[in-house]
Amino acid sequence: MSRLKDKVAIITGAGGGFGRRMSEVFSQKGAKIVVADFDEKSGKETVEKVKEAGGDAIFVKVDVTDDESTKNMVAETVKKYGKLDILVNNAGKQGVKKDIAHMQVDEMMPFLYVNVRGPWLCIHHAAPELVKTRGKIVNISSIAALQGSYGGSAYGVSKGAVLSLTYAVANELGLYGVRCNSILPYSAATQETLRLLGEEFHELRKSGNPLHQLCTADDVAYASLFLASDESKFVTGLNLLLDGGAHVRSCPFDMEDFKRNNVYEGVEPLF
Ligand SMILES: NC(=O)c1ccc[n+]([C@@H]2O[C@H](COP(=O)([O-])OP(=O)(O)OC[C@H]3O[C@@H](n4cnc5c(N)ncnc54)[C@H](O)[C@@H]3O)[C@@H](O)[C@H]2O)c1
Repeated sequence: MSRLKDKVAIITGAGGGFGRRMSEVFSQKGAKIVVADFDEKSGKETVEKVKEAGGDAIFVKVDVTDDESTKNMVAETVKKYGKLDILVNNAGKQGVKKDIAHMQVDEMMPFLYVNVRGPWLCIHHAAPELVKTRGKIVNISSIAALQGSYGGSAYGVSKGAVLSLTYAVANELGLYGVRCNSILPYSAATQETLRLLGEEFHELRKSGNPLHQLCTADDVAYASLFLASDESKFVTGLNLLLDGGAHVRSCPFDMEDFKRNNVYEGVEPLF
């Protein structure tokens, strides 16, 4: 219970897959949660789930791309709970299956708006409160920041910028004891990514990492918990890869050979 005891956390996009699970886990560890999302229905559902489990949460409607709206999100937090300890920049826009020649600039810009302007504005308005509490910022980037992919000229670029933002803020706010880190999740089968990219895509993605798995909302929630708690007190400017080791795999290769030549007698391979 005590890892985040009495801490106040804003989690943007907390109506969605990763954000809801983070809200539940942070609350279980003692934090008060500001569920910040522009989708009122899903955001309020997250608040209900936290409260049903005995936690404390409020919903604040926010558009992370809007200056006034993000300013108001921080003001509402301080009005209700008196301070701000943790900001998780999780709200994001995902998935386009178009190459650069066929994507229109109007389709590209929303990725920069939500995924770059969004975290920038949230940090911009939260910083004056976070310095008072020696707070923590966790930015949810993506493995797409480091690995090229089809359609990545919009999403990947926007998530790459999140890393640069992390480095800059870690330097600027380190002066006041505020830490800023990024998490880079691998593909996860959340409701939204299943709708955008389909099941086949997710099945195929498993072969891209040595653990042959997808990332889950639990993986993201517990990694965020570590970075939001004092257990990571000497960690700032980090890109934490939640990718099942995808970054050390050169290319998909035939595992059947390894399986046939299993040298670990009595222990079966997992996949
Ligand atoms: N799911 C994956 O495979 C995956 C992998 C790597 C990184 N990520 C990143 O993780 C984060 C969460 O992903 P998810 O799968 O939970 O997505 P999701 O779509 O389930 O949740 C995103 C939430 O953000 C909210 N949101 C979107 N635009 C907003 C805005 N302008 N203002 C306020 N709220 C807004 C949505 O209403 C939604 O509730 C995103 O930043 C995403 O890019 C996801």
